[in-house]
Amino acid sequence: MKYQSVKGMKDILPGEVGRWQAVETLAREYFSRFGYKEIRSPILEKTELFIRGIGETTDVVEKEMYTFIDRSGDSLTMRPEATAQMCRAYVEHKLHSQTGGWKVFTIGPMFRHEQPQKGRFRQFHQIDVEVIGPEEGLVDAELISMLIGFLEECRVGPVSVRLNSLGCRNCRPAYREKLIEFLKGRQEELCPECRRRLELNPLRVLDCKSAGCKAVVADAPAAADHLCPTCQASFGQVRAGLEGLGLDYELDHRLVRGLDYYVGTTFEVISGKLGGQDAVCGGGRYDGLIAEVGGPDQGGTGFAIGLERLLLLSELDPVSDRPDLFLAHLGQEASFEAFKLGHQLRAAGLKVIFEPGEKSLKAQLRRAGKLEAGSVLILGPEELERRVAVLKDMEPDGEQRELGLDGLSDRVAEIIHGKKA
Ligand code: HAM
Repeated sequence: MKYQSVKGMKDILPGEVGRWQAVETLAREYFSRFGYKEIRSPILEKTELFIRGIGETTDVVEKEMYTFIDRSGDSLTMRPEATAQMCRAYVEHKLHSQTGGWKVFTIGPMFRHEQPQKGRFRQFHQIDVEVIGPEEGLVDAELISMLIGFLEECRVGPVSVRLNSLGCRNCRPAYREKLIEFLKGRQEELCPECRRRLELNPLRVLDCKSAGCKAVVADAPAAADHLCPTCQASFGQVRAGLEGLGLDYELDHRLVRGLDYYVGTTFEVISGKLGGQDAVCGGGRYDGLIAEVGGPDQGGTGFAIGLERLLLLSELDPVSDRPDLFLAHLGQEASFEAFKLGHQLRAAGLKVIFEPGEKSLKAQLRRAGKLEAGSVLILGPEELERRVAVLKDMEPDGEQRELGLDGLSDRVAEIIHGKKA
């Protein structure tokens, strides 16, 4: 019996991991410039958290969650996203009193039972960033500017930022009624799914991809034109903040996002190079969600970058896993010397490959080349006889030098550390 990984879930092989590490390392460093700290949370949460947090009539909750009853009889779900979970952690650990807000990011796998295609998987990975507490528009502006700066440093090429405001608990209901009224007037032009959703979740009609719905939506009233003074002021701050930093964005009245917790500012970052699944990142404000999961009435805002999509775009150099040194040895005695030397050199901080077994020097040098080792240390019976070893640089010019066996590991470590500095 041969097994394959589960549909829509894949191995990230050692040869690919260096690119993941490069963007993850940059994320940790870049976000810390803005005061964000890393948090790591479980994959599983109580199903109820996502139903309440994300919304019962969203695609994610209706169709995409990996949910099961565990051996204690609890309904658990593999997290489809991290925002609801971050709010749960914030409330559970009573982190309410942080001045300036609780600024966190988390990097890890998410699970949605979607139809796999380019850039869409059932297990995918996100860099999720959240600020919980403050409600000022400038917080969103700084967050979006951080996102754009990070994407630039990831060398993703041209992207566009789409921005919208969906209104809040105060102004959304009136807008919602207006939208339902408008959509009802053109009901027969909508797709069956949108007709079903019309009363339940009319905002989702705005981002339906079917041609008929798109034509209707082109004439639909926009949420951003029906904002209360508070939402207007907040959205104005976001726009002024971005403009003050010289950052481009497009207003997109149809940007509603697929999760029900959004209020006020929402945004997405799109790349033309991604094909059908063109959003590399999505986010927005979710004031009200903290209270929904049992916390105080505080605001929250954040975004999540899809790592697989980011990696389709990023030209960042991978983190190198090339060994510093390959130990080539001929004969049993030299092989044992090399084995011991490897142990000492790793303790001195070097990446050292020792492969036991009898192979010709030529074959060992070929192997060192394949592994892209920086240097090779050659130990054979003749060298042992003379109590020396030969250190050969693999690049740039293959320089060789003989080193005495006494104090060899210190000397080799000194030379290689010097070369790397
Ligand atoms: P989202 O738009 O559902 O938002 O996902 C964010 C990003 O995750 C997407 O733009 C995309 O790059 C990636 N993504 C989503 N689904 C898949 C998939 N099936 N395969 C590959 N990549 C995918 C959220 O998840 C919100 N929690 C973001 C947020 C944080 N809002 C506020 N704070």
